[in-house]
Amino acid sequence: MIAASRDPQRVQLQLDSRPQLHTDAKLLRVILTNLIDNALKYGDPTQPIQVRLSGDQPCQLRICNPPGPAGAPDAEQVFEKYYRSPRAHGLTGSGQGLYIAHAFSQMLGGELSYQPGADLICFQLRM
Ligand SMILES: Nc1ncnc2c1ncn2[C@@H]1O[C@H](COP(=O)(O)OP(=O)(O)O)[C@@H](O)[C@H]1O
Ligand SMILES: [Mg+2]
Repeated sequence: MIAASRDPQRVQLQLDSRPQLHTDAKLLRVILTNLIDNALKYGDPTQPIQVRLSGDQPCQLRICNPPGPAGAPDAEQVFEKYYRSPRAHGLTGSGQGLYIAHAFSQMLGGELSYQPGADLICFQLRM
């Protein structure tokens, strides 16, 4: 998934655990592909993004990027269908990726949350 992303060299992967997941691999792939693609697309293009897996039952997958020119999305609307932050309109997208990722996370019994910070924008999947 990372190798097939738009900029694999910017992805820093940290595996703190190797959880055994019994889940729908195709849905999980859609979720992770969306999160990694967003971090590479909207994050500062000169900086790496961080993908970190930790814990087991539940495990946490955190994907973080420093904000890019489009800034940080609005926490109240980020998982709404068709939402795009105002300054993201110059970049291609349809505003459906996070809506789908959030819905798929729930279908898998997990939870996708948005954790914005001043220096890092993070999305966390817990399942
Ligand atoms: N990792 C991220 N860093 C900064 N902004 C983000 C990130 N992920 C999503 N966003 C913002 O949230 C909006 C919605 O994302 P998404 O649902 O994936 O739609 P799309 O990528 O098609 O615009 C994006 O348009 C962007 O403004
Ligand atoms: Mg997207």
